[in-house]
Amino acid sequence: MLPFSLALFAIYAAAEFTPSVRSGHGNNGDLTCKAVPGTPEWPPQHSWAHLNETVAGRLLQPPPPGAICHPEHASYNATTCPALRAAWSTYEFHQADPISMDGNQWTNDSCLPQEGAPCSGAGYPVFVINATTAHHVQQGVKFAKKHNVRLVVKSSGHDFLGRSNAPNTLSIWTRNLRGVKVHDSFRPSCCKAGVNATAHAVTAGAGMQMWDLYSALDPLNLTIVGGGGKTVSLGGYLTGGGHSLLSSWYGLAADQVLEMELVTPNGEIVIANECKNKDLFWAMRGGGGSTFGIMTSVTMKTIPTPKLEYLTLTMLTQNISSPRPIYEAAAYVLSKFPSMSDQGLASYTFFFPPTRDPLGGTDTILGALVTGATLQNSSPEEMHRLWDPVIAHVNRTWPGVFSIAYQPKTYPSLLAWFRENYDTSQAGLNIYSGSRLLDKAALTGNITESAIAYGKFVNGTIGIAHLVSGKGVHNARPRGGGNAVLPAWRNSYVHLTTSTSVPPLDPAAAMTVRKQIKERVDALRKLAPNTGAYINEANFEEPNFQHEFWGSNYERLLRIKRTMDPEDVLWCTPCVGNERWEQVGDRLCRINGA
Ligand SMILES: Cc1cc2nc3c(=O)[nH]c(=O)nc-3n(C[C@H](O)[C@H](O)[C@H](O)COP(=O)(O)OP(=O)(O)OC[C@H]3O[C@@H](n4cnc5c(N)ncnc54)[C@H](O)[C@@H]3O)c2cc1C
Ligand SMILES: *[C@@H]1O[C@H](CO)[C@@H](O)[C@H](O)[C@H]1NC(C)=O
Ligand SMILES: *[C@@H]1O[C@H](CO)[C@@H](O)[C@H](O)[C@H]1NC(C)=O
Ligand SMILES: *[C@@H]1O[C@H](CO)[C@@H](O)[C@H](O)[C@H]1NC(C)=O
Ligand SMILES: *[C@@H]1O[C@H](CO)[C@@H](O)[C@H](O)[C@H]1NC(C)=O
Ligand SMILES: *[C@@H]1O[C@H](CO)[C@@H](O)[C@H](O)[C@H]1NC(C)=O
Ligand SMILES: *[C@@H]1O[C@H](CO)[C@@H](O)[C@H](O)[C@H]1NC(C)=O
Ligand SMILES: *[C@@H]1O[C@H](CO)[C@@H](O)[C@H](O)[C@H]1NC(C)=O
Ligand SMILES: *[C@@H]1O[C@H](CO)[C@@H](O)[C@H](O)[C@H]1NC(C)=O
Ligand SMILES: *[C@@H]1O[C@H](CO)[C@@H](O)[C@H](O)[C@H]1NC(C)=O
Ligand SMILES: *[C@@H]1O[C@H](CO)[C@@H](O)[C@H](O)[C@H]1NC(C)=O
Repeated sequence: MLPFSLALFAIYAAAEFTPSVRSGHGNNGDLTCKAVPGTPEWPPQHSWAHLNETVAGRLLQPPPPGAICHPEHASYNATTCPALRAAWSTYEFHQADPISMDGNQWTNDSCLPQEGAPCSGAGYPVFVINATTAHHVQQGVKFAKKHNVRLVVKSSGHDFLGRSNAPNTLSIWTRNLRGVKVHDSFRPSCCKAGVNATAHAVTAGAGMQMWDLYSALDPLNLTIVGGGGKTVSLGGYLTGGGHSLLSSWYGLAADQVLEMELVTPNGEIVIANECKNKDLFWAMRGGGGSTFGIMTSVTMKTIPTPKLEYLTLTMLTQNISSPRPIYEAAAYVLSKFPSMSDQGLASYTFFFPPTRDPLGGTDTILGALVTGATLQNSSPEEMHRLWDPVIAHVNRTWPGVFSIAYQPKTYPSLLAWFRENYDTSQAGLNIYSGSRLLDKAALTGNITESAIAYGKFVNGTIGIAHLVSGKGVHNARPRGGGNAVLPAWRNSYVHLTTSTSVPPLDPAAAMTVRKQIKERVDALRKLAPNTGAYINEANFEEPNFQHEFWGSNYERLLRIKRTMDPEDVLWCTPCVGNERWEQVGDRLCRINGA
């Protein structure tokens, strides 16, 4: 996504900042809790052995991955430890491990690969099913339900809200639910001839990742509405909504879904589509991961891969004493986004804070606004027509402040673009995020006020304005007449995110940043009071998350959750219907009277 120097800049800024322990407030009254090891409620060894037989020996009891670097653990290996430490900052490592998570705080910093850090399995699941079939998933769900064992679902472990891990659990690892099948024409099963077949579609295992799909479809000149990270998996991406550089044209990823196979919280394997299990079909497309069921495979529309016209536009400040011009220029550029989106533009725009020059090592203050702008099947001339007036205005309004450079490039396919521009950000940090969707009113209102709000939101770290909504999302016609994604997507243009990382094992620093993230999102809430946040990239402790993530869809989602999962076999936070339980230390307990 970024030119070389700015990529370094990003790492530097991320390392300088960012949190910790999931809240476990609670009383010790008369609670009914999910079973934990070491108590009579926890299933005995022979029950686990039986479960292992029902899943063809695929039950794992992995040590925490970081234990390789800790001499007191059986998996210690001084030879491989340095490689593990290096791999910890890559997404590839965490997605390939049955229990590892990108964000250390989600495993409670309980086993980092660093010397001197504590290491135990306390923050991780106890058992894991390495599922390759719906049957394996089904056995896990039935077991957890029968034995009152807390259940989690992990695919890649990328979740920014930590929903894919919890202690004292049985985890279903969906990473190895694989397979791709391309259809020239697809009609949802059990749908009568009256339901139109779609021209092209792909059925894929729920553990399949963006890179797998882009590269499988590219030789056929096809692609999907997919995300910007190589290892983001369909399971979490589609259940959250899924935004894409192609969304402005085709809608969100959840809008492309034609059918799913899933295991319900009751342990049934079902097909959900517009004719069958319609409520589940609606809820699974945007209602959030690990809540309504565990997706095992999904069929979604494919699209002819577009040729992408791409522009990297860098506005760099080298000598400013205040970051104001960056936020003012950003406010101006973002105010043009609704009309540019209506003319076909999609983009990821990064706000870089002023900071010490990470390259020269001097005290030079730098800051930047970097836009990766995309048009579909277009031309360099069209890109210029859209951007030249904007660039000229910035140059005129802040003379001498920004050095402006732009680099156009044409890519023959989505995959060709992705190979060079996929998300190369870093894993293995304790990162806290915040999100807000911005509608036209927020983007095009008083620029002075927007600049102040953006400054507060980004506040010294990196912000990303995803111009990924637009006509395609606004006019989407999801199968079955609708889906559960936040309705505010249908009239927003930009999804703005920020994140800050803190050192691990520093709860005080984490508390400070968590408080700041809330204040920072509040600044945008004031600017865009009627939108909401994108669940998959939001603050895990977003206040009133039910409304902010799902808006007017929440009531229906809650009814479906109560019907499908009356016992809360699937429970996560912040997730639909989680109001009846709370985490008390490392246990999950029913709230009195709930
Ligand atoms: C590098 C990077 C780039 C990203 N880019 C984008 C982007 O371009 N667009 C975008 O919209 N988002 C993007 N995201 C955010 C992404 O959508 C979320 O991180 C999402 O949660 C990832 O899903 P996962 O299955 O890979 O992760 P996981 O952490 O494994 O799962 C996330 C959630 O989904 C649940 N889940 C996983 N599999 C299933 C399943 N089969 N059935 C039911 N529930 C399941 C988990 O329990 C958890 O609740 C990006 C994230 C990263 C790390
Ligand atoms: C499950 O069974 C397999 C094959 O018999 C065995 O290798 C594995 O160790 C068992 N898992 C657990 C957790 O005991
Ligand atoms: C440590 O890892 C190396 C490389 O994989 C391997 O050759 C070696 O046998 C391992 N040592 C121990 C003690 O397991
Ligand atoms: C999980 O299953 C896959 C597919 O069978 C296999 O390749 C992989 O080695 C297994 N992982 C672990 C940790 O057992
Ligand atoms: C099916 O296709 C016909 C012809 O293209 C169209 O008029 C109709 O609206 C479509 N039906 C649905 C349910 O999309
Ligand atoms: C893909 O597109 C290229 C360029 O237009 C064409 O040469 C090729 O035959 C197409 N491949 C398929 C499988 O349609
Ligand atoms: C930076 O700006 C200040 C004030 O405008 C000016 O005095 C100084 O010479 C500038 N420095 C550089 C390196 O341009
Ligand atoms: C900005 O304005 C300066 C001074 O008028 C001019 O030299 C420069 O070429 C302009 N830059 C761009 C990118 O338009
Ligand atoms: C924009 O907001 C600023 C700060 O609140 C205010 O001073 C200014 O008058 C507003 N401008 C317009 C055109 O309303
Ligand atoms: C940024 O955060 C710091 C620390 O919380 C705060 O003191 C400062 O006022 C904030 N800056 C802005 C522009 O909001
Ligand atoms: C995280 O670790 C702390 C201290 O090690 C412990 O008090 C707390 O209960 C743990 N939280 C969870 C959710 O396990």
